[in-house]
Amino acid sequence: LERDLLTFEGFYFHRKACDTGVLENLDDFELRDDDVFVVTYPKSGTIWAQQILSLIYFEEHRKRTENLESHHRVPFLEYCSRDIDFASRPSPRLFVTHLPYYLVPRGLKDKKAKIIYIYRNPKDVMCSYFHFLNTYPVYKAADTIDAFMKQFLEGKVVGNLWFDHIRGWYEHRNYFNIQFMMYEEMKKDLRSSVFKLCKFLGEDLSEETMDTVVRQATFENMKNDPLANNENALYWNFGPKLREGHFLRKGTIGDWKNQMTVEQNERFDKIFQKQMKDIPLQFIWD
Ligand code: PPS
Repeated sequence: LERDLLTFEGFYFHRKACDTGVLENLDDFELRDDDVFVVTYPKSGTIWAQQILSLIYFEEHRKRTENLESHHRVPFLEYCSRDIDFASRPSPRLFVTHLPYYLVPRGLKDKKAKIIYIYRNPKDVMCSYFHFLNTYPVYKAADTIDAFMKQFLEGKVVGNLWFDHIRGWYEHRNYFNIQFMMYEEMKKDLRSSVFKLCKFLGEDLSEETMDTVVRQATFENMKNDPLANNENALYWNFGPKLREGHFLRKGTIGDWKNQMTVEQNERFDKIFQKQMKDIPLQFIWD
């Protein structure tokens, strides 16, 4: 519902979970050269990246000698981070965020620190989003996919219009030290994706460590790992009880085919073609 959204500089945030103090001070955010920011539109692989990155960087997470949930390994910049003191965190600091290119800490534009932008085909994003909002009573989502599709295509959701988010980041990519990653490629070949990430991050992992990272970052493993699936994440204010469903829902490519009607799909395609005609990013739909 619109009243659950908070607007800041023309961008929508979850009113209940957003840390406005962080938003207001983003300009003064002190970056470190080895900071890593994962940027996503909602439902595009954020928690997956939290898991992968923390496994790449921290042996204690690979070995499970430290008992921290995703959010405390790789905090959200703008959500539920009030109790996390960014300034005193050890390096390398890892963050996730849904921010558009024009709101991120200013130093990122001078290529201080690295950014990983993960994108996912927007039909699956929309369906994942719809189910996510319906899973948590606090969000009171649209009742039908059709009603949600209208909202999604008008950009009246956290993250605003999907097309604007990806276009903004894509068109301004040369200002940033940024690596684009595709959810579907990660899904089809996780090992190659982890390898690509390591290369970008300058992290040299042994084959054995690589195996461990890949093993612990699969959907099945994360779904059964209370530290990696948000099941106990009370700090999100998701509400006392789930309606039904899980944060890690299906984790597949092409679920939109089960969710959208032929007519909805055609309507979506027309808009996609028009909005994306000059953006040469590849997409995988099934
Ligand atoms: S959020 O709310 O923006 O932080 O959500 P986000 O984490 O970006 O997206 C949640 C979707 O990502 C899926 N997911 C995965 N897919 C494949 N493999 C792994 N390991 C994985 N981890 C999370 C998750 O299931 C949500 O997608 P759906 O389609 O709803 O299952």
